[in-house]
Amino acid sequence: MTPDHSFEGDIHSPLEVDIHERESIEIELLLEGIHRLYGYDFRNYAMPSLRRRIWHCVHAENLKTVSSLQEKVLHNRDCFDRLVYNLSIPVTEMFRDPELFKTFRKKIIPILRTYPYIRIWHAGCSTGEEVYSMAIMLHEEGLYEKSRIYATDMNDRSLAQAKEGIFNIEKMQLYTKNYLAAGGTRSFSEYYTAKYNSVIFQPFLRKNLIFAEHNLATDGSFNEFNVIFCRNVMIYFDDKLRNHVHKLFHESLNHFGVLVLGSKESIHFTDFADCYEPMDMTEKIYRKIK
Ligand SMILES: C[S@@+](CC[C@H](N)C(=O)[O-])C[C@H]1O[C@@H](n2cnc3c(N)ncnc32)[C@H](O)[C@@H]1O
Repeated sequence: MTPDHSFEGDIHSPLEVDIHERESIEIELLLEGIHRLYGYDFRNYAMPSLRRRIWHCVHAENLKTVSSLQEKVLHNRDCFDRLVYNLSIPVTEMFRDPELFKTFRKKIIPILRTYPYIRIWHAGCSTGEEVYSMAIMLHEEGLYEKSRIYATDMNDRSLAQAKEGIFNIEKMQLYTKNYLAAGGTRSFSEYYTAKYNSVIFQPFLRKNLIFAEHNLATDGSFNEFNVIFCRNVMIYFDDKLRNHVHKLFHESLNHFGVLVLGSKESIHFTDFADCYEPMDMTEKIYRKIK
């Protein structure tokens, strides 16, 4: 029997207890198997969205139970890749939440201007739209030449697309609107060349971008940064994993380094809350002070 996906822990009858319990065991075993065989650790992702995604995969693979998905995933690498892609939720936009970019331009760029060299890390960059947005902003502010932008994600399919810098032409209308709302001053179409249904961003924008696979749950610190962007990633994590990632960011930021979380997230209620002071309360931009 397929469980009722709509109930999130409200337990009413012994039958529901049984279904709920069995499903929890199956999900736990699936995640444990994935961790042991492939090294990907989803064990501390927030359960409601993880559960929805797993069931989506069960149905997409024409299966009926989480256990049958476990069997397929452990025996079939392609099925595992499809599951990872699905669990990674690669939704993104250029100049997503334009107010954040506007605030960054106003409050953080003047600080970066005083540095001889700028290192930025976009953790969970997905298909790269956020990274190209940053490259454009730094270029317009005359800072791109002295910057290195490290862009990482656990999802190699998304990263491959990010490296190419090729995006669907249909999205350019929205991205142009976002760019202007983010304080862009030029014609957005200067930055890309259109070909058939796609656009490719100008090669000079890719020059100082470094794309690499990095898993926030299992990989360590790899450099020291002036700025770390991590938006719409930790919302899918539980408190334990969120704290683990904040430890990694704290280790990877230099003193007065800037942490950008975006309006939906906060440093409050994490183990590192008192290591930062707010630079913008709405956009959740912080500066490391200890
Ligand atoms: C919703 S996208 C956010 C993209 C971009 N930061 C933005 O706000 O538009 C979430 C991204 O986080 C990545 N992600 C999820 N868990 C991760 C992990 N443990 N390590 C690295 N990246 C992860 C996913 O692969 C996905 O590309």
